Amino acid sequence: MTTTSSAQHTRRDFLYVATGAVAAVGAAAAAWPLISQMNPDASTIAAGAPIEVDLTPIAEGQDIKVFWRGKPIYISHRTKKQIDDARAVPVSSLPDPQTDQARVKEGHDQWLVVIGICTHLGCIPIAHEGAYDGFFCPCHGSVYDTSGRIRQGPAPANLPIPPYAFVSDSKIKIG
Ligand code: FES
Repeated sequence: MTTTSSAQHTRRDFLYVATGAVAAVGAAAAAWPLISQMNPDASTIAAGAPIEVDLTPIAEGQDIKVFWRGKPIYISHRTKKQIDDARAVPVSSLPDPQTDQARVKEGHDQWLVVIGICTHLGCIPIAHEGAYDGFFCPCHGSVYDTSGRIRQGPAPANLPIPPYAFVSDSKIKIG
């Protein structure tokens, strides 16, 4: 009697464990496509998924170029002088009046993030070129300042600012 009861227990335990194992495998199999979908693939990134950029390697006075939605994005680590120069200009004298403060994130004033596409006919300006130490477009001579604002040449508007946010003091998410 004891032996039979023990055998039944063992069989029940096995069935219970086996059922649990199948359920766990099933849950994992069902979850995998969801987890997999949460990691954007290359085509999704190209189509516009947000990108995160570590700012740590960009020294003061330097900039990097990254790509988001197929567009070049300049990220400049501005010096105090570059910020001061941008803020010393009377806003009313600018072709596309905008304060420097309106083009950066408060508390992160040293970081300028702009879409590197000239607002004239779409060439890619060169950073740290031109009379204002900002950007120079070699196609038709547009000159932007250290805030990415148009100062000379045929471009009608400032370099656009992409949607971005600081996720920490040294990392931004673009998009
Ligand atoms: S495209 Fe840049 S100045 Fe014309």
